[in-house]
Amino acid sequence: MSDQLPTVYRWLVSEFSEESRRAEVARLSPFLALHVKPGMRVLDLCAGTGAFALELERLGALVVAVDACAEMIARGKAQAEQHGSHTVFKQADVLEDDLGGNYDAVTFLGDSIADFPPAQFSRLVERLPGWLAPEGRLLVHYEDGFFPFIAAQRPREYVQQYDPVLLTCILSQYLSEQGAYVETYRNEATGEECEYYHYLYTPPLVEALVGGRLSLMERKSVSDSAWLDVYAREARS
Ligand SMILES: C[S@@+](CC[C@H](N)C(=O)[O-])C[C@H]1O[C@@H](n2cnc3c(N)ncnc32)[C@H](O)[C@@H]1O
Repeated sequence: MSDQLPTVYRWLVSEFSEESRRAEVARLSPFLALHVKPGMRVLDLCAGTGAFALELERLGALVVAVDACAEMIARGKAQAEQHGSHTVFKQADVLEDDLGGNYDAVTFLGDSIADFPPAQFSRLVERLPGWLAPEGRLLVHYEDGFFPFIAAQRPREYVQQYDPVLLTCILSQYLSEQGAYVETYRNEATGEECEYYHYLYTPPLVEALVGGRLSLMERKSVSDSAWLDVYAREARS
C-alpha cells in the first residue's frame, strides 16, 4: 500500500459520507448519466465512502469502488448495506494493486486527482488502458486548483468541526516547484498533526498528463471551477 495516503482522510470520513456529498453528487449526476448506462461495468477510483459509486449504481452500473483508506471503505460498506447496494468495495492502492480490467468506464471523481503529484498521476495514467475495455471511457472530475486562491475563498487558517473531530487547518506553504500547497491539519482532540499536499491541476495540465495515453473526447464545465473530462482509449479518427 502506498505510504503517500494522507492521514487526514482517516479524520475526514464523515466529510465524504453519502450524506455530506449529496449536493456535489446531485450536481455531477446529470453529466455522469450521459456516459454511464445500465449494465456498464464501472471502476470508481479513490471512491472514498462511495457517495459517487452509489450514484453510478443508481444509474444502472455494476460498480467496483476502490480506496486505500480502510476507514473510508468500512463506511462505504456500511452505507451500501443500508441501501441494499451491490457495489463492491475494495481497499486497494490505485498505484499498485490489481483492480481487474475490461471496465466500460473508469471514474476518478471528486477532485481525487489533487492527491497525486504529477509523477504519481502519470503512473496512474499508465495503468488506465489496462483497466479499460477497448471502447471504454475515463471520466475525470476535478477542480481547477488555482481557483480557491484566485477567488480568495480560502483563508490562511480555519477551524472546522468535522464530525467527530475538530480540525484546525493552516495553509502553511506553497511549493511552486511541485505545483502544490501544503495544509497542516491539527486534530484538536488528540493533538496529532499531519501535512496534506494538495496538487494544483488546471484543465490544460490534466489534458497534457492524460492525453499521452488516452484521447480527450469532451470537457464539460460542472461549476465555476470544476470540470468533467471524458477520455477514450482509442484515438479519435
Ligand atoms: C478527495 S477524496 C474523494 C473521495 C470520493 N471520490 C468523493 O468524491 O467523495 C480522495 C480519496 O482518494 C483516496 N486515495 C488517495 N490516494 C489513494 C491511492 N493511492 N489509492 C487509492 N485511494 C487513494 C483517499 O483515501 C480519499 O478517500
